[in-house]
Amino acid sequence: MPASDRFLQAARNEPTDRVPVWLMRQAGRYQPSYRELRKRHGMLEIALSPQLAAEVTVRPVQDYGLDAAILFSDIMVPLGPAGVRYEIREGVGPVVEEPVRTGAAVAALAVYDAALREPETAEAVERAVAALDGVPLIGFAGAPFTLASYLVEGRPSRTYAETKRLMWSRPATWGALMDVLSDIVLRHLILQVKAGAAAVQLFDSWAGALSPSDYEASVLPYVRRIFQGLEPYGVPRIYFAVGAGHLTACMAATGATVLGVDWRQELSSVRRQLGPELALQGNLDPVALLAPWAVTEERARAVLEGMAGEPGYIFNLGHGVLPTTEPDQVLRLARFVHEPRFAAHR
Ligand code: CP3
Repeated sequence: MPASDRFLQAARNEPTDRVPVWLMRQAGRYQPSYRELRKRHGMLEIALSPQLAAEVTVRPVQDYGLDAAILFSDIMVPLGPAGVRYEIREGVGPVVEEPVRTGAAVAALAVYDAALREPETAEAVERAVAALDGVPLIGFAGAPFTLASYLVEGRPSRTYAETKRLMWSRPATWGALMDVLSDIVLRHLILQVKAGAAAVQLFDSWAGALSPSDYEASVLPYVRRIFQGLEPYGVPRIYFAVGAGHLTACMAATGATVLGVDWRQELSSVRRQLGPELALQGNLDPVALLAPWAVTEERARAVLEGMAGEPGYIFNLGHGVLPTTEPDQVLRLARFVHEPRFAAHR
């Protein structure tokens, strides 16, 4: 597992010897070692055990030669110490015991001191960083809107009806909820950076459900505040949302230094729209890893050629690795992305 500077170089818009690659959900059920561990431990149990979390975090880097690790945790984890009772239901996602829909419920969310109340996360980061031996660790959090969607709906949703209803009909309650969540997220991210995370990614997975004007009015100010609070720490700040091509300009205004792009957009057109300042990350369709390798390779090549020779580019999927992915496909993909020809500069 050689130390790798590529990920951080690309995130800082510097040239790299090879295109760096890591994959969202690179630690998870597609790995036999993870499925084995899950027979004995729950998902949250692993995330809250510093030793197990660190082990699971490091494994895909060792197995597939990826250029960065991402902390094994979940976006819901920092909500536990804020008093939210929830479970992660297999095949479903986060389910919250009592949905948060009133001013009183928002007021009951404790604003907490991450350093005091999340010792497991800090220790997991420290252990992972030590074991990674120079390969950078990405810390992460869910963005306020995506967290709010789970808190307000109580479970995964297709329409985000209750979330939007709250946003539109009780703006003061919405603002209070987003304030508390922004505070929790910022502290959670700073905790990870202080413990050794070399970059952070903010997952706003479901923000694509919003129109640009709703995003600008009700979400953007909070994301900006979080990224502003991270600026003094000098780490790359990645922002990612799914199905959010219509929000590209808004997302570029968040203060992120790297923008994650899903497969619905061409990287080259996002680059044309935003210019070379903002580094890009993405965007192979995760389903392409389920196809025969020749098809996967063709698709990966098209992604790489769209950014060929440009600095400020990190290869990734357009969303997380699917549990039915063959691990050998991930290994082949990492090797393919690392072929020197893709890093050649124009
Ligand atoms: O490898 C990594 O990317 C790091 C770990 C990670 C997990 N969740 C572990 C996990 C990360 C970065 C997340 C973030 C997360 N969690 C997001 C944002 C990213 C995205 O995918 O859009 C969201 C929306 C969640 C909420 C959540 N947690 C969902 C939708 C699910 C899937 C439910 C299922 O069973 O399909 C989870 C559970 C979860 N989080 C798993 C993992 C590995 C599955 C765990 C298991 O059952 O063992």
